[in-house]
Amino acid sequence: MTWTNLQFSCSHQLARETETALEELGATAVTFGEGADAAPQFQLEPGDLPQWEQVQLTALFDSRQDFGRITRALRRRFPQLADTPMDLEALPEQDWERAWMEQFKPIHFGHDLWICPTSCAPPDPAATNIMLDPGLAFGTGTHATTALCMRWLAQHRADGQIVLDYGCGSGILAITALKLGARQATGVDIDPRALTASRENALKNAVSDRFDTCLHGELREDFRADLLFANILANTLIELKPLLLSRLAPGATIVLSGVLRDQAQQVCAAFRPEIDLQVETLDDWALLYSVA
Ligand SMILES: C[S@@+](CC[C@H](N)C(=O)[O-])C[C@H]1O[C@@H](n2cnc3c(N)ncnc32)[C@H](O)[C@@H]1O
Repeated sequence: MTWTNLQFSCSHQLARETETALEELGATAVTFGEGADAAPQFQLEPGDLPQWEQVQLTALFDSRQDFGRITRALRRRFPQLADTPMDLEALPEQDWERAWMEQFKPIHFGHDLWICPTSCAPPDPAATNIMLDPGLAFGTGTHATTALCMRWLAQHRADGQIVLDYGCGSGILAITALKLGARQATGVDIDPRALTASRENALKNAVSDRFDTCLHGELREDFRADLLFANILANTLIELKPLLLSRLAPGATIVLSGVLRDQAQQVCAAFRPEIDLQVETLDDWALLYSVA
């Protein structure tokens, strides 16, 4: 398969919304870079959006996508982009993976939890180090929605629990839970490439004997989780509510992410009365969690 980057600049204010729209339009990854007016930025925390006035967005798509449809949809949704030039750059798959690895550096969560690309030596070998390559799946910890879940795991841990990671992407959350003491974890996704990446990452972290994967709709009928993560978009979480709740063991904890701060109350309301969700935020994003 070949990949194509769609690149354009937009204002800082529009960047997050545009990122979400690009993901909804099928982008596999969206990264931010310096616009033409950029001043250097230092000491960014995971999930931070640099304060450049103009942000260069690079969205990676499967080359078979209809780019006319994508750019028309973006311009319809964001009239501010009507005259913005949008460039396409075809990438051989190798280059894309290398580009990713160059941007992906060790990230620190909580006092002793790190995500490290396999190409780097862990900065603190005595810490809990999750060695990870995203492959073609979402989930490196750089995005605020994942960072919120990692921060939650660093605080709450997962001792002895059965974990369900719904929308597992790279497997980052399931694997972290296993490294933090979970008994068993299952990753579910609609994308078979995510399941491949998750299994490879579980092997790299020596947890594959406690990790299973399956496609959405193929989860064992009697599977119940003590701890369920779902980092997907707000509307999908609301649609999946009956399915997610049916997979909780008595007294289980549910952790939802992928929700914009402005959408948090809508998702909380949708999960009531069965579940009362508490909200934590990072940048424009919210994590919702409960003890059922
Ligand atoms: C934002 S990524 C989260 C990846 C990873 N869990 C993390 O926290 O970084 C969302 C993932 O959910 C998957 N997904 C989207 N809709 C889904 C659905 N209805 N059922 C299962 N997985 C879904 C996507 O393919 C993607 O891998």
